[in-house]
Amino acid sequence: MRNGSAAAAAPPLQAEIAAARAAIEDRLDALFPSAIGQSLVEAAMREAVRGPAKRLRPLLAVLGARDLGWHGPATDVGCALELVHTASLILDDLPSMDNAATRRGKPAIHVSYGEDVAALATIALLARAYGLVATAPGLSPEQRVEAVAILSEAVGPAGLVGGQLEDLRGGAACADRARAVNERKTAALFVAATRLACVMARSSDACRQRFGDFGRQLGQAFQLLDDLLDLDGNPSAMGKPCGQDAGKPTLVRLLGAKTGQAHLREQIAAASATLAGLPNGAARVACLFETMFEAPKSPEAALAVVAGAGEMPC
Ligand code: IPE
Ligand code: IPE
Ligand code: MG
Ligand code: MG
Ligand code: MG
Repeated sequence: MRNGSAAAAAPPLQAEIAAARAAIEDRLDALFPSAIGQSLVEAAMREAVRGPAKRLRPLLAVLGARDLGWHGPATDVGCALELVHTASLILDDLPSMDNAATRRGKPAIHVSYGEDVAALATIALLARAYGLVATAPGLSPEQRVEAVAILSEAVGPAGLVGGQLEDLRGGAACADRARAVNERKTAALFVAATRLACVMARSSDACRQRFGDFGRQLGQAFQLLDDLLDLDGNPSAMGKPCGQDAGKPTLVRLLGAKTGQAHLREQIAAASATLAGLPNGAARVACLFETMFEAPKSPEAALAVVAGAGEMPC
């Protein structure tokens, strides 16, 4: 222990992040038990939700809430985000969308269960997500209502659904359009995670604004990283195919890998500066963020670390 101070006595951040991740995994397991006689849709939901997955959105909500002063239960709200995210992945992989055969290191849900079951499982996952938020422990009725509204906005035409449509059917390719697509298809859920953290912590408007800005910057950076990995990542490490974006106007395909990497560095710097302006620099979220993007030498290593297979930097 250094100097016997309270700060030194606190558990190291990485232990706290690992514990939050374990709580999220345990809760997801409990929400989707394996049971004899369960329907195909229930089996597909369980299969889709189960790891290996990085659980970044729930971690952002849970750790963000703690950074902002909420030490009550946050896992259910985090898990709701993970269910929405998982539903978006099932849809994204469908033959009518990205037509991807693998996800999270396993056959995509429509490959194992068929497109009919996959479509129904996404609806059931979304319904479950709203239900989780509506009954989240430790929150007032007003907080729950606000949380449901935040999730709903993130899913709808202004968020995931609108972004996915633009991604698949958008107009003329240009960098600004690609950024606008990323804002909705990816950043919207990271922003929702920050907004939910603020609802749990009853944060000030200024704090909500700043943390939301961070979520947006993080989302843009995350999609850039994903697009870079699509060029030369390792499919078995990522658990999904690479080269999916060939012929698609992603930022990286439009600008080239080198400019894409430069943009990624700029986004990371901007997001770090935003975080630094939050109370105590949002230390837990900063540690998660560093793990995702900065400390490891390569994006692949970053993913391995976040997925729990590598060493955390803080
Ligand atoms: C994949 O998200 C979809 C994108 C927004 C790029 P993640 O990379 O967080 O996927 P999982 O949850 O770890 O499988
Ligand atoms: C992810 O975009 C956007 C979603 C909301 C699912 P991608 O299509 O690039 O995600 P991956 O690469 O399939 O995970
Ligand atoms: Mg896609
Ligand atoms: Mg895809
Ligand atoms: Mg991708």
